[in-house]
Amino acid sequence: MTESAMAHSEIASISALITRCTGIKLTADHQAMIARASNTLMVETGSSLNALLQRLQVDAALLDRLLSLVTIPESYFFRDPSHFTYISQTVIPAIGQLRGPDHVLRVLSAGCAGGEEAYTLAMLFEESGIAPSGVRLLACDISRRALSRARKGSYSAWSVRGERAMALPESFLRRSGKHYEVAERFRKQVNFFYLNLAGKGYPSAEYAVEALDLILCRNVLIYLDAATIRHVAQRLYDSLAPGGYLIPGPSDPLLSGLAPFEAQLTPGGLVYHKPVKRLVTSTGQVSVPETAPAPAFVAPASGVKRERSSRRASSANALSNIPKAQIENDGVAADIRGSVSSEELDLQALLYAQALLCMQQGDDEQALAQLKKLLYLDSSLAVVHFTCGLLYSRLAKIGDAQRSYRNAIQHAGALPDKQLLPLSDGEPAGLLVQAAQQQLNALHSRLGDSA
Ligand SMILES: C[S@@+](CC[C@H](N)C(=O)[O-])C[C@H]1O[C@@H](n2cnc3c(N)ncnc32)[C@H](O)[C@@H]1O
Repeated sequence: MTESAMAHSEIASISALITRCTGIKLTADHQAMIARASNTLMVETGSSLNALLQRLQVDAALLDRLLSLVTIPESYFFRDPSHFTYISQTVIPAIGQLRGPDHVLRVLSAGCAGGEEAYTLAMLFEESGIAPSGVRLLACDISRRALSRARKGSYSAWSVRGERAMALPESFLRRSGKHYEVAERFRKQVNFFYLNLAGKGYPSAEYAVEALDLILCRNVLIYLDAATIRHVAQRLYDSLAPGGYLIPGPSDPLLSGLAPFEAQLTPGGLVYHKPVKRLVTSTGQVSVPETAPAPAFVAPASGVKRERSSRRASSANALSNIPKAQIENDGVAADIRGSVSSEELDLQALLYAQALLCMQQGDDEQALAQLKKLLYLDSSLAVVHFTCGLLYSRLAKIGDAQRSYRNAIQHAGALPDKQLLPLSDGEPAGLLVQAAQQQLNALHSRLGDSA
């Protein structure tokens, strides 16, 4: 074996070790990064690559150091602000109602990176009038380097890049030269600790990672492999108290079916809720069981109702004319935020409504991400292919738009003309075929014009 081939195989072994320990998916694209990190450790420890590989298997501190070099602790204050609006307007009142005014909230930022998310929570609780003694704030990560940065609470402008963060008062985040310092009272409030979410160290009394009211685990699962996501979903579920909430990032993988959560659609994406089942015992007392089995998706307390107004935007007819204006005017957001319930809700409707909300907010890339999840679940959804076509067309990705319209035609065309399509507003398959064909013709002329 040549020197470089040997190095290649050792780098591959180091990558496999990282995935085995953390669940982080690593592809060929990450090899250069792993090689750089290994090189740093070889210099630090004076070991050869082969010796480093051997030591990594037995030296937990060295493995930690490697993980600190290969994880990307990227975060910023008030990232995805709608999540924090949801926490203050929905989670805090719901938990207060469930557990009473003396309850101490138990909150975890899982995969907290440099701590911006945990401090955002501390600031939010203060803004919401909750005294530090009324909340126990935990934050964990696998990167000890990120945790030590988090404990310092000192940040560059890059961590304060959002509008909401930039509007924070000096009493929360004080500017000091090029840095922003988190107020001491917030630094004292958060307990940062090491926890590998892929491991078995939780739920646990050690750091009070149990009976939690709220877990934020945002933009972490997206980096993990499928087996680890399943493991983490169940362990986070087990770490929640009944009635507790789990908020993932908007691009994180779906957790429905991986643990018995109820999913709720919010303006910031799906939020998972551990159901509370109140049982009246034979003595007439009300008890809350530790775990309560529930269907993966049920009507959200503040969710999407599957009714004509919210689905009008999905109509092939409406979309083929002026999709954006139609969507903006048809009250999708109002439906999503409105306090409604419906037994007809299902995962497809939730995801589709979420995609429409993203379109309405002008976030076409995110809308496409939601639609792709839907197609992953059911690739025959002609309405979804059609909507992808509109989005790609808007993003000037003409080849992708053509492919999507052809898929829409193929799937709708396989059905009887008069058959109503899932997710449509009552339009039949034949109409969607015509609409998609019109869009294809329009694209064809557009290409002709620009030739
Ligand atoms: C992109 S950051 C997300 C930070 C923050 N949650 C946010 O959304 O802004 C992802 C973090 O997850 C951490 N992480 C990755 N795998 C982990 C694991 N198995 N256990 C705990 N943390 C992990 C990384 O170290 C990194 O700090």
